[in-house]
Amino acid sequence: MTQTREPALALTLTDAPEEAAQAVIAKGLRDHALAKIGYRDARPLAILARKLVEGKEVAVGGLLGRTSFGLFYIDRFFLPEGLRGQGLGGRIIALAEKEAARRGCSRAVLFTADFQAPQFYLDHGYEVLGRLDCEPPGHTRFCMTKKLDGARCGRPFAVGE
Ligand SMILES: CC(C)(COP(=O)(O)OP(=O)(O)OC[C@H]1O[C@@H](n2cnc3c(N)ncnc32)[C@H](O)[C@@H]1OP(=O)(O)O)[C@@H](O)C(=O)NCCC(=O)NCCS
Repeated sequence: MTQTREPALALTLTDAPEEAAQAVIAKGLRDHALAKIGYRDARPLAILARKLVEGKEVAVGGLLGRTSFGLFYIDRFFLPEGLRGQGLGGRIIALAEKEAARRGCSRAVLFTADFQAPQFYLDHGYEVLGRLDCEPPGHTRFCMTKKLDGARCGRPFAVGE
């Protein structure tokens, strides 16, 4: 009897996964969702603050996130010091939430640390879903969420809609 065997599998621990590996995992997950749910709708959502520097428009800060299956994930939000405290962050988050709701998201969700901006998010209608002690000792991360107006949770969203 012949037995076909998978080639030996090696597990690699790395802090620099190559693009091809990342693409395989991302595609695998997309296809898995498509098979289980029947559609996939993950899309980046970014609001960029741009400035003219030596005649060229460059991003100096902004918000990076994504929408997926009715949730708006805020992954990164940063403005340089000189642009803070003038309402720009509030404008950016309002724009991002509006677009997320337009895409059908019912909630925004994020992590922020005590030395970052929990108060900013509380001021903008977010509530604390959970808290985790983190490093350096004595510090805390908050998982925060806000209900959005997008009441279309679950409806497939066509790219460009
Ligand atoms: C968080 C951030 C994007 C907000 O942008 P912003 O332009 O400063 O925000 P706004 O000017 O619209 O709003 C500022 C309000 O939030 C409050 N706020 C912002 N950051 C705060 C902080 N770290 N702690 C307490 N309050 C904060 C301010 O007190 C201010 O309140 P007020 O309007 O009552 O005076 C910006 O401050 C920033 O980049 N911070 C450093 C990076 C960071 O913490 N990012 C968040 C990661 S989750």
